[in-house]
Amino acid sequence: MSARLTDGTASADFLARVASCQARIESVLDAALTLPDPGTERLRDAMRYSVLGAGKRLRPTLVYLTGESLGAPLARLDAPAAAVELIHVYSLVHDDLPAMDDDDLRRGRATCHRAYDEATAILVGDALQALAFAVLANEPMLGTSAETRLAMIRLLARATGTGGMAGGQAVDLAAVGHTLTVAAIENMHRRKTGALIQCSVLLGALAAGVQQGAEIAALERFGAEIGLAFQIQDDILDVEGDPLVLGKSTGADAAHSKPTYPSTAGLAASRLRAGELRDAAIAALEPLGARAAGLAQLAKLVVDRSS
Ligand code: IPE
Ligand code: IPE
Ligand code: MG
Ligand code: MG
Ligand code: MG
Repeated sequence: MSARLTDGTASADFLARVASCQARIESVLDAALTLPDPGTERLRDAMRYSVLGAGKRLRPTLVYLTGESLGAPLARLDAPAAAVELIHVYSLVHDDLPAMDDDDLRRGRATCHRAYDEATAILVGDALQALAFAVLANEPMLGTSAETRLAMIRLLARATGTGGMAGGQAVDLAAVGHTLTVAAIENMHRRKTGALIQCSVLLGALAAGVQQGAEIAALERFGAEIGLAFQIQDDILDVEGDPLVLGKSTGADAAHSKPTYPSTAGLAASRLRAGELRDAAIAALEPLGARAAGLAQLAKLVVDRSS
């Protein structure tokens, strides 16, 4: 795997837990991508190429850690964990297209449109998005009511659409060549990346049967803060990361005249802001007490990561 969620300071126990979430989601995704539809082998191969075998799996890990901390059995978390990763990979495949960021490298190998072709990459995104919702609608989630399933679908749709990822990507593209205020950058980042990360946390809570109250308010805040911190760190790594560790090219944001957190506020302020958001995220977990220890460790990795 080209990129791992490690930073050199996390405990061995915690890293083993993250690794087991990564291994678990890999096999759930593998099973979900066994698509029998005749005549679509190339599309299916390109979907499997894009989804399997690499990636940090942050979003599924958030689903598992949140759900577990609230008492959900792992088997009930597989479907939401897979659904959010499928949406994420769809967003990456489209993000890399020539019409968007025009990148050649993703997760340590050729981007989907380079390994296959542009039309196939567009269809991979389309089909992964449909598959994500099919998984949420159809896969077994023992002990989950139809109402909760519907709430999950609604949550994922909101985080994926114009109010979340797709809308944030539209703002990102419209901003090329322009100067944004720091507040506008934060808003864009919260939408294009933060919404799906926050959604991962809330899907874990929903699967555990927690829908409202102090715990949900705490997790909403936690998810929002780490979501923004994650994209600020992504912007920082585009400036100072190692492409071999990252598995993607660096310097692409500047080359494409993208306004980012570092290009707007500077690298030092970006690091400070990411740290501040990490601390705010960890503080938000207080109502969950010791149960949230894993999420707090994950918040540190979101900012301290080098991949
Ligand atoms: C990259 O996400 C795109 C962003 C939303 C910043 P990740 O850094 O989580 O990518 P993978 O899944 O590990 O490849
Ligand atoms: C991507 O942001 C956000 C998505 C919704 C995919 P970036 O364009 O910065 O992500 P990378 O750096 O290509 O992974
Ligand atoms: Mg982009
Ligand atoms: Mg990109
Ligand atoms: Mg980036």
